Amino acid sequence: MPDYHDMTKKTAILFGSEAVAALHEVLDNSKSGSSGVFLLTDHNTHKYCLPQLKLLLGFCDAGWINISIPAGESHKTLETAAAIWQELTDHKAGRDAVLICLGGGVVTDIGGFAASCYKRGIRCIHIPTTLLAMNDAAIGGKTGIDFNFLKNHIGTFYLPEKVLILPEFLSTLPSGQLQSGWGEVTKYGFIASPALLQINPETISSAEAWHQLISECVSIKVRVTDLDPLETGLRKILNFGHTIGHAFESFALENNIELFHGQAVASGILVELNLSQKIFNLEKSVISQYIESLKQNFEPFKFSVSAIDDLIHRMGQDKKNQGTSLRFVLLETIGKPIYDVEVQIDMIKEALLFYLAQINDESND
Ligand SMILES: NC(=O)c1ccc[n+]([C@@H]2O[C@H](COP(=O)([O-])OP(=O)(O)OC[C@H]3O[C@@H](n4cnc5c(N)ncnc54)[C@H](O)[C@@H]3O)[C@@H](O)[C@H]2O)c1
Repeated sequence: MPDYHDMTKKTAILFGSEAVAALHEVLDNSKSGSSGVFLLTDHNTHKYCLPQLKLLLGFCDAGWINISIPAGESHKTLETAAAIWQELTDHKAGRDAVLICLGGGVVTDIGGFAASCYKRGIRCIHIPTTLLAMNDAAIGGKTGIDFNFLKNHIGTFYLPEKVLILPEFLSTLPSGQLQSGWGEVTKYGFIASPALLQINPETISSAEAWHQLISECVSIKVRVTDLDPLETGLRKILNFGHTIGHAFESFALENNIELFHGQAVASGILVELNLSQKIFNLEKSVISQYIESLKQNFEPFKFSVSAIDDLIHRMGQDKKNQGTSLRFVLLETIGKPIYDVEVQIDMIKEALLFYLAQINDESND
């Protein structure tokens, strides 16, 4: 039995027809002997993606047992993980069972987490169905659930055996979710690939164009996670925009405000660009251009000045922060991120005020 907890292993990341062929192979092999193939969906991916997957597989007898969970971040919880374990147990899934996660980052995060703990680890395959999961969440082996409204507070490092990327699934994705996926594309642009920042999302529509865009993001993520799978150093650069973004998400979750992950990251990036300007003298024009792009392509997260202390408190809970210091990934220039930069609380408060002033300034629209 291979050790899926071994983070030095490699995940096979396959696109299009190669992905479909690999899935056929998994299903065929599991007919002889394995103790079950389980397909994890959420209620939306069950409705929209499962029929497409069956079509792509040529309506073969997949023989999987479907486990379906409620959709959305508010269900990325221990209770949902327990419901998955219950289903696996009820169907007598053994250590050689395979869990195929068909969904966005919530399904791949919680599915990966459930797979990593069930009987100390069963096989896991991701079929991401959102742009965000294709370009980021399904890659790299971080799994997790939210706990007490704290993002990804409980989790494991656990590599999926395969990630099968089929941009066809994006055809049913609501536009707000597609926009959210661009939040992580923007992050990759700032930390590693400035050309990504020049792409107009509206020009990407063909399967080929999606393939190219997603491949570029995936290759950045794989390059980084291969060098530092357990996030002891370099991998932290992938968290650019996330220290603030996760605090926004945690606040929104607890206050029942709808906020998609990529929107939170896109908003967090503006605050962290402002910090980068103050600490590393990042060019001001980078920030002014980004303000335009944020307003045009995303819905910036809105909050009141009175929420700032609460947000700072949530940042203190962030796993990237050690002790009482607040550490960030900041940019010296586009493409040159620096991790573990300590920032004083007063400066973070100022940056949040700067953010509020920009997004509330309708004259820039
Ligand atoms: N593990 C990692 O490295 C990593 C990286 C980035 C983000 N994440 C996590 O990913 C999560 C966000 O992922 P997400 O943005 O994919 O959200 P999501 O999984 O909640 O999906 C967004 C919504 O779209 C629906 N949906 C998914 N695919 C669809 C399709 N093809 N057609 C129609 N509806 C569809 C879902 O049911 C859901 O309602 C967050 O929890 C975040 O923390 C993890």
